[in-house]
Amino acid sequence: MDMDAAKARIDALRAEVAAHDHRYHVLDAPSIPDAEYDKLFHELRALEAAFPMYASPDSPTQRVGAPISGDFAKVVHAVPMLSLANAFSEQDVVDFVQRAQTALGQTNIEFSVEPKIDGLAMSLYYVDGRFVRAATRGDGEVGEDVTHSVRTIRSVPLKLTGAPAELEVRGEAYMPRAGFEAFNQRARAAGEREFVNPRNAAAGSIRQQDPSAAASRPLAFFAYGIGAAPDGVAISRHSALLRWLRELGFPVAPEVGVATGATGCLAYFTEIGQKRSSMPYDIDGVVYKVDRLDWQRELGFISRSPRWAIAHKFPAEEALTTLEAIDIQVGRTGALTPVARMTPVFVGGVTVTNATLHNFDEIARKDLRPGDTVIVRRAGDVIPEVVRPLLDRRREGAALPALPSACPVCGSAVERIEDEAVIRCTGGLVCPAQRREALRHYASRKALNIEGVGDKLCEQLVEAGLVNSIADIYALTMPQLTGLDRMGERSASSILSEIDKSRTPSLERFLFGLGIRDVGESTAKALARHFGSFDAVRAAALRMAPYFATSDALKDKALKTAFAAEPLIQIPDVGPVVAQSLYSFFSDPRSVAIVDALLLAVTPQSQVPAAQADGPLSGQTVVLTGTLSSMARDVAGAHLEALGAKVSGSVSKKTHLVVAGAEAGSKLAKAQELGIPVIDEAGFLALLAEHGRI
Ligand code: IVH
Repeated sequence: MDMDAAKARIDALRAEVAAHDHRYHVLDAPSIPDAEYDKLFHELRALEAAFPMYASPDSPTQRVGAPISGDFAKVVHAVPMLSLANAFSEQDVVDFVQRAQTALGQTNIEFSVEPKIDGLAMSLYYVDGRFVRAATRGDGEVGEDVTHSVRTIRSVPLKLTGAPAELEVRGEAYMPRAGFEAFNQRARAAGEREFVNPRNAAAGSIRQQDPSAAASRPLAFFAYGIGAAPDGVAISRHSALLRWLRELGFPVAPEVGVATGATGCLAYFTEIGQKRSSMPYDIDGVVYKVDRLDWQRELGFISRSPRWAIAHKFPAEEALTTLEAIDIQVGRTGALTPVARMTPVFVGGVTVTNATLHNFDEIARKDLRPGDTVIVRRAGDVIPEVVRPLLDRRREGAALPALPSACPVCGSAVERIEDEAVIRCTGGLVCPAQRREALRHYASRKALNIEGVGDKLCEQLVEAGLVNSIADIYALTMPQLTGLDRMGERSASSILSEIDKSRTPSLERFLFGLGIRDVGESTAKALARHFGSFDAVRAAALRMAPYFATSDALKDKALKTAFAAEPLIQIPDVGPVVAQSLYSFFSDPRSVAIVDALLLAVTPQSQVPAAQADGPLSGQTVVLTGTLSSMARDVAGAHLEALGAKVSGSVSKKTHLVVAGAEAGSKLAKAQELGIPVIDEAGFLALLAEHGRI
């Protein structure tokens, strides 16, 4: 790069970084993800290093943190509030530990290991045990006086017993996730501005002029250190200092610990990484600090960060990319699902190119237009999500995609059911996409489990016209299969033998495999157990004709009473919606033709209808939701069934009990709404223990 170009780029970057600094620190409304900001910042720093003649004290690279907004009184920090160097890889951590050990002439040193809370650094100053002042970090040397707001944080102690005459505690003010969600929900309802994330919400709340505003926001605090060493306190390790702070009444993150060497630190990183999504507050990494305070002093500082500590960051969960196109996928039931196709981007530890947009309302709600620069988020193992577009980067002429008026695969008309966000192709099995998906579902692991019949083969079979309905797979021949692209005799013969093996499926798998709308695994199981044979299920479904003959038949009182007494309705999982889906399926000549053709090749196994098992939970319907940390969901279900309970997939008035693991969502909410008893994982384990299951 020549000097003029470098100067121009440096100027542009300074302006851009400064604008983002302002949005982030002063307005508490960042417009780009942190990782994107870091990129700009690093580019600027690298250019300034390569072209030192353009150095300037005004450059945003020349300060640690936020500018002082001018609205708050200034507080000069007695000991500067510095920041931590970052490690982004295991090697960075190994190097850090090695550097510290070499400098100290030690091996296997111990580290205080702590979650890196994603909030706002805070200094709390106490005189004679009384809270007198709170300050933000500001630029590291001078911060802002936010005593009025911090005083309202309930976890900040206002009076200490046994504290030294002067004490400055440092830590992180943050907003717990639950509080953040509730806060944003209220803001949404009131038509007020929502915050992008809990950290900005915390920063925004603390930097309010009006303390009642902060008081109404659910803030909290964790201590992680002190300013100057207090008089008369003999503490020799950071871990002991944290214990002492806890005894004085300060909240300290419960995940803190001590680890030895790089191996111990990395094991802690993994452990916290696994817990991260279920922790009640956001963290963006972990911090390792040399535990012995005398060694910390010996190591000292390099430029603006300590040599004795490092932040090991999780991979960024948000990144910027281009939304290249919005494609439409057609599912098994004909639902048209828009999918974002993006320029590949590395986020949350993987490369992301596609993300479902769920439905067309979602596109409109998020205002996503092909060509937009968008924020993509991938947190933990959660599927990637397009968060929002950057409006200031939108190109002129970018338009919302038109709602499809025909199926993009088969050209059939589409329908949109009132009150439903979904647009569906009406082509049914005329639509190759629906044929392919129906077959894929039928052969899938939880249905007929036909090994070898996966995505690609289903596509090929439908494309080659060999399979028009699922029944056709039982008529496939060797020459037909070997005629497909890249299909040898060995694979073809193994596929045929797998197909053959699927001719005597269990009733529940067969029912599930038919892909009847609203009949998931657990409903299929309930139907199989209750009715015992395919014919009995079909007969029960067909008995429903009078209730669905017209759309308001069920408004008739007498019919409604009869409906409630129907055998199908006795099943806890089955209400009007499932009943109607079953009825529609078994009364539609198209599906009947497929089922009858299938039954010539396949014999679903009848089973003895479940007797009222004689267990302590007999007659009770239990729903499992959320994640259990102590056992897999199916194991938990098996325990419950062994106790006589029926395990159902959805919450209704007929549910007796809900077991809610971590991150339980809508089912838990529904249970609460219906007033159904809910127990958490501990309660569930106690229940199993009580009945001798564990
Ligand atoms: S120690 C001199 N410990 O991360 C070292 N910081 O850049 C001072 N943070 O500004 C920081 N959790 O706001 C430390 N357990 C922890 C932390 C932590 C979060 C924040 C803090 C600091 C930034 C590091």
